[in-house]
Amino acid sequence: MTASPPTSAAPVKRVLVIDYSQTGQLSAVAAQIIAPLRADPAIAVHVEALRPLKPFPFPWGFFPFFDAFPESAHLRPGALAPLSLRGDEDFDLVILPYQVWFLAPSQPVTAFLQHPLAARLLAGKPVVTVIACRNMWLLAHEKLKGLLAATGARLSDNIVLTDPGPTFATFFTTPAWLVWGRKRGFWGMPDAGLDANQIAGCRRFGLALRDALREGRERLAQPMLEGLGAVRADVRLYISEKAGTRSFYLWGKLLMAAGPPGSWQRRPLLALYVLFLLALIVTVVPVSLSLQALLRPFFKGWLTKMKVQFERPSGSSTDRSPFYDD
Ligand SMILES: Cc1cc2nc3c(=O)[nH]c(=O)nc-3n(C[C@H](O)[C@H](O)[C@H](O)COP(=O)(O)O)c2cc1C
Repeated sequence: MTASPPTSAAPVKRVLVIDYSQTGQLSAVAAQIIAPLRADPAIAVHVEALRPLKPFPFPWGFFPFFDAFPESAHLRPGALAPLSLRGDEDFDLVILPYQVWFLAPSQPVTAFLQHPLAARLLAGKPVVTVIACRNMWLLAHEKLKGLLAATGARLSDNIVLTDPGPTFATFFTTPAWLVWGRKRGFWGMPDAGLDANQIAGCRRFGLALRDALREGRERLAQPMLEGLGAVRADVRLYISEKAGTRSFYLWGKLLMAAGPPGSWQRRPLLALYVLFLLALIVTVVPVSLSLQALLRPFFKGWLTKMKVQFERPSGSSTDRSPFYDD
């Protein structure tokens, strides 16, 4: 789809992009989206890199990885180093990519949204969220919507990219990648993370946002990325997410009472919890998926309603995608 080129009198549109990624995956997704915006002289892009005061390691190692769950699940993140923004900057659009950590927004992104500057920067602004995660994001996004609402921002669009491997395989390949740095698949399972085509395909969102900004559509209370296959919600995972969230919350409380992040007092409890979690993954997830497959005919209406709800605002239809396949 071509939009009329900006005239020299057209005011510059300012876009804020938040950036945090451990492996570079989420930054690569964001880079595809912002490339068309950067190429437009009428759009100024500011990328704000989030730097946790105490950086999270990568690869994580076993205990540091699981030790991050209590504070992640309870939305009590470690603090960030000072931002380069002052809070009085005026952006037309905010792009907020985030990864999911333990069924919640990652700690650095949560810390940003809880930062006193966030409300000053985001109040009344349209925000496009971009999720790149293994495949469980439904409840993390509910939490993120709550954090966004507290800043007074308006969620304009949501883009979701999930790892293409089968759910069960990714329960093993993703931790192997994150804990030990092994991205290549093993035992016949696919590589961890997104594939190159998914990342390259994100350019279509950047092109659509560029056109929307040129036409001032970021100010309208309508999504800018409809028809581009932005979100496909797998609501069959909802019940597993609910069970996981509850267990992270309860065990997280216990662990936080035992000691601060990184303390030795947490280790025995963490070891016990990982065993419990493994049992949960090999029982609750397959049982809930099989039960749902059996009962699907009875819950069809409910599942369809949930799917539509979780795919809001951008939706899963792809009718505009051909216009942006370049
Ligand atoms: C501590 C931690 C917990 C994670 N928990 C989840 C999760 O609950 N659901 C999910 O889909 N992905 C989860 N992931 C995967 C991330 O969302 C993401 O795909 C991966 O960390 C790569 O992100 P990056 O761009 O920061 O490298 C987790 C990753 C980490 C590091």
